[in-house]
Amino acid sequence: MAVVLDCAALAPSVHNTQPWQMRTDGDLIELRADRSRQLGYLDPTGRQLHVSCGAAIEFGYLAARSTGRECAVSLLPDPSDPDLLAVLWLGDNRAPTPTERDLAEAIALRYTDRGPYSDRAVPDDVIADIARRAAELDVWTRTLDEAAERRTLISVLYDAEQAEAADPRYANELAEWTGTEGHVGLPADSIASRWPADRVSQVPLRDFSGHAEHPSPNGQADEPPPTVERDLLLMFGTAVDERGSWLAAGRALGWALLRAASVGVSAQPLGPAIDLPVERARLRYELGLVGFPQFVLRMGYGQDRPRTRRQH
Ligand SMILES: Cc1cc2nc3c(=O)[nH]c(=O)nc-3n(C[C@H](O)[C@H](O)[C@H](O)COP(=O)(O)O)c2cc1C
Repeated sequence: MAVVLDCAALAPSVHNTQPWQMRTDGDLIELRADRSRQLGYLDPTGRQLHVSCGAAIEFGYLAARSTGRECAVSLLPDPSDPDLLAVLWLGDNRAPTPTERDLAEAIALRYTDRGPYSDRAVPDDVIADIARRAAELDVWTRTLDEAAERRTLISVLYDAEQAEAADPRYANELAEWTGTEGHVGLPADSIASRWPADRVSQVPLRDFSGHAEHPSPNGQADEPPPTVERDLLLMFGTAVDERGSWLAAGRALGWALLRAASVGVSAQPLGPAIDLPVERARLRYELGLVGFPQFVLRMGYGQDRPRTRRQH
C-alpha cells in the first residue's frame, strides 16, 4: 500500500502544489483535495487542482496494478463530501499487463522537462496509445500540426502570459511557489533556463520569473538567428467542463506522461493557454474545438534535467 501512495505522490501538479491528501484504510485508498494548496489567482475554480489530482489517481492506479492487484477507481463517490475526489479499491490478484508494468516503472523516471528537445519525432504509436487511453476515460486528444493552429496556440500563450504578468496577484503567487527549498513548489534549479543561445522554442514556455519574457526567434542583430524548435503539440479536452471531466483529463494526462517517459520522451505542459477563461475560450473558438481544452503539452526527446521534490 505504501508504494501505491508514494507513486501517486510523484504525479505532476500545477506549480508542484501537490494539492492532495491520501489516506489508506485496509484495501482502500482515499484521495482528497487539499484546498489549502489551491492557487487562488491561477486556479479559482479548482480546475487545475482536479487535473493534478487526476494525474495522482492514475499514478496510484498504475502502481496498484503493478503490484498484481485489481484496482477499481471511483471518482467523486460521495456527493455530500465534494472534496473526496476518488476512492481506489484494491481487489483480487491479477497480473499487470506489460504496458501497466512499463508505465509503473516510468513513474520514478518521469519529470517535467523544460529544456530543449531534439528534432527527432515522437513515435506515432506513442501518440496513438495516448489517444486510445484518453478515449477510454472520455477525453479527446488532438495534435496541433497545421501552421494555422500552431499560430493560434502561440498567440493565445503570448496573450495569456502577458495578462498574467500584468496582474500583481500572479507575481505574488509565483513568488510563493517558486525558489522553494522544502518539498513543495518549484526549486530554482527546476525552472532555471538551460537553453543554448542558438535555439528557441516556437511556442512560448511559461516564464517563471513572471515577466512573460521569451528569447526572440530573431536573435540579436549581430548574431545569426537561432534555430526554432517545433515540438509535437498535444492537446487534451473533454465534452463537458465539470469536476469529473477535470479528473478524467488528469488521469489521461498522467497516463500520457508515463507512456512518453517509458520510451524516453519528455514533455512540458503549456499551462498559460488554459489558465485564464478569456484565452481558453479563444483557443476553443479559434481552433473550432468540440468541447473544452483541458491541457496542452509540448513533447520531444530532451536532455537530463533537475527534478522537483515531494512531501513524502
Ligand atoms: C495543471 C498543471 C499545469 C502545469 N503548468 C505548467 C506550465 O505552464 N509550465 C511548466 O513548465 N510546467 C507546468 N506544470 C508542471 C508542474 O510544474 C510540475 O508537474 C511540478 O512542478 C512537479 O514537477 P515534475 O513534473 O518534474 O515532477 C503543470 C502541471 C500541471 C499538473
